[in-house]
Amino acid sequence: MTSILLPRPDDWHLHLRDDEMLSAVAGYSAKRFRHALVMPNLRPPITSSADAAAYRARILDQVDEGSSFVPLMTLFASSELDLEDLRSGSESGVVKAVKFYPPGATTNSDQAKGSLGSLHELMEVLVELDMRLLVHAESTDPDVDVFDREAKFLDRQLAPVCERYPELKVTVEHVSTAAGVDFVNAHPQVVASVTPHHLARERGDLLASGMKPDLFCKPVINSASDRAALVAAATGGDSGFFLGTDSAPHTSTAKYAPTVAAGIFNAAYGLEVVAEVFHRAGAIDNLGAFVSVNGAAVYGYEPSDEQIRLTRVESRDVGESKLVTAIGDVVMFGVEEAAHWIVEPV
Ligand code: NCD
Ligand code: ZN
Repeated sequence: MTSILLPRPDDWHLHLRDDEMLSAVAGYSAKRFRHALVMPNLRPPITSSADAAAYRARILDQVDEGSSFVPLMTLFASSELDLEDLRSGSESGVVKAVKFYPPGATTNSDQAKGSLGSLHELMEVLVELDMRLLVHAESTDPDVDVFDREAKFLDRQLAPVCERYPELKVTVEHVSTAAGVDFVNAHPQVVASVTPHHLARERGDLLASGMKPDLFCKPVINSASDRAALVAAATGGDSGFFLGTDSAPHTSTAKYAPTVAAGIFNAAYGLEVVAEVFHRAGAIDNLGAFVSVNGAAVYGYEPSDEQIRLTRVESRDVGESKLVTAIGDVVMFGVEEAAHWIVEPV
């Protein structure tokens, strides 16, 4: 029987939302993860250190007392960010990173303005502060095929920025393609978060036997060979790749609509999904590097002193497959994989 101990994992890319949804989902992340890097794409987005501090307080209000969960906050990049405020948010520790969204690429990114290449002053301040730029890497150029959006964004938009600012530290968020893995490997200043769903599913799962809204996210889940490249990068122990769940809850009303909302809720079982991917790849010994060590080092932390135990079983009754919230149900990703794993604190 496979049974392993790991330092308590971190989630380096998480959407917690606000209000009723926040109160429904926060506990899942707090139970599993030590840190979570919280994305700023609310409506309106988080754009100041005061917004970030207030949002952090609302998150902590929804977490059990006694939990050691630490939300780390990010700001929504734009040319309108107050750079003095960013400096003070960095100094006080309330702002951990800045996230760039291409306008129109994903949920709530219609609020973004301008291209990455136009944000020169912001890039300079990030370098000065030694603060990471987090990038949603999708080209929204109309000539770009949806499955090539990541490759084209990296080539057309991120490569010139990396060249111009070699000291800038960059995280490609939810890397989804072989081209993305190659880009990270070719740029020492760039690392990448990887999601459970991009490691465990491919576009055939999304599209081949009836379209599955519950597997629709941005960047879209890509080809089998892209998935193989992600699995190789994640399971190989390379310190430039680490877990970011991109858990992004939407109600079933929004998921089963004519225009399907992008995002997959995996906070409950994402860890089990990743454990199953590593198990099937024969790489369970590298799981701790991916979920508990590599990302922590990138963001300046030692691995947690707390431990969890993961035990693989033939099958178990998972229980919940749907989260019931005050504003509607949310389907949980990873129930199949969760049936093979028991996760418990030590
Ligand atoms: C995320 C969301 O819903 O906020 N959706 C998604 O498909 N991943 C936004 C994002 O990270 O792209
Ligand atoms: Zn996301």
